[in-house]
Amino acid sequence: MLSIFDLMKKLSFFLILLQYVSCQSISKKNNMNQLKISKEIFGKTKENTTIHKFILTNKNGMEVSVINFGGIITSLKSRNSKGNYEDVVLGFDNLSQYEDESPYFGAIIGRYGNRIAEGKFTLDGKTYNLAVNNDINHLHGGLKGFDKVVWDPSQEVTDSMVSLILKYKSEDMEEGYPGNLKVKVTYSLDNNDELSVRYEAETDKKTIINLTQHSYFNLSGDFSKDILDHEVTIEADSFLPVGSTLIPTGEIRSVKGTPFDFRYSKTIGEDINISNKQLSYGNGYDHCWVLNNQDVGLRTVASAYHPKSGRLVEVYSDQPGIQFYSGNFLDGKLKSKQDSSYGFRSGLCLETQHYPNSPNEKNFPSVTLNPGEKYRTQTVFKFGYK
Ligand code: GLA
Repeated sequence: MLSIFDLMKKLSFFLILLQYVSCQSISKKNNMNQLKISKEIFGKTKENTTIHKFILTNKNGMEVSVINFGGIITSLKSRNSKGNYEDVVLGFDNLSQYEDESPYFGAIIGRYGNRIAEGKFTLDGKTYNLAVNNDINHLHGGLKGFDKVVWDPSQEVTDSMVSLILKYKSEDMEEGYPGNLKVKVTYSLDNNDELSVRYEAETDKKTIINLTQHSYFNLSGDFSKDILDHEVTIEADSFLPVGSTLIPTGEIRSVKGTPFDFRYSKTIGEDINISNKQLSYGNGYDHCWVLNNQDVGLRTVASAYHPKSGRLVEVYSDQPGIQFYSGNFLDGKLKSKQDSSYGFRSGLCLETQHYPNSPNEKNFPSVTLNPGEKYRTQTVFKFGYK
């Protein structure tokens, strides 16, 4: 007959075996898709809030780092044609530069990405006044936009993707915008080297909204170089000409025969220096293109390719416009994370969004969000090489 002691020994052996088998199956599952997220401290804000950096990785070795300050992508490592992974987004390695001097590097922009003329708009007969922080206009949500707030982070790993979910409650009249706005931004990385950015929001009062992502790409991986050799495509038959303070005039102009024609791939440098009034207003490209096939939902909208490294990024979005900015305000004053500085046109932005100054232009698609409605948009950056 078995003693109690023998029985317990047998039982504990069985339990250890069970634990071993289940551990093996979990690690096998993780090894199979190798989608991971890790977390470390990035720094402390001036108000002493600890900010974390979340590192999303996939089975190929692609790595995206995001901090919960501004929802900023601080680094993004993608492979070149030889298989070397390098960081391809401009940014800083410390929080204080992001707090004090960042030209929106890698950040989530809101409540309204891009410009609103003279910082004024009217809803139901009431005029709202926003901060005038860019010449005579409002830009990128104001003095403390979504690029400078602390987001509430959570993580999720499924069989097909790894996600960082960022939430923020923007109070009624924050930066002059009406309505308590609940915002959720989800960054997801999958094993196809696709980084998806999903934006969701709800309000309790009629308001306006236009969220975007402000990464500056330099696919060479060397931030001391400019981006003029990058080949760009933009799926747009027309663009929005601007006035001298970069507010659209309201005209929708064909790109045909202009330097704004990126329907077929061409280098950024090809036409950027030709004499053209629109280029002189932007000191290069800093315009919104009117994307084709606006009723299709998520579709290809733009791409950037760096022939020397072979790196490619394709942009998919459900948005009607894209601001293509060729880094014309960068002037070599900001110290980079590579011990160099960010020179003139050392990064390019492809900011999917609604058109600038839409609240004041009846003919532009609406940016109004009503209580009971859900704001939902998505943009995907797919990385590859040729
Ligand atoms: C946007 C604007 C540019 C510039 C950058 C940030 O892309 O269109 O004019 O303000 O943001 O520096």
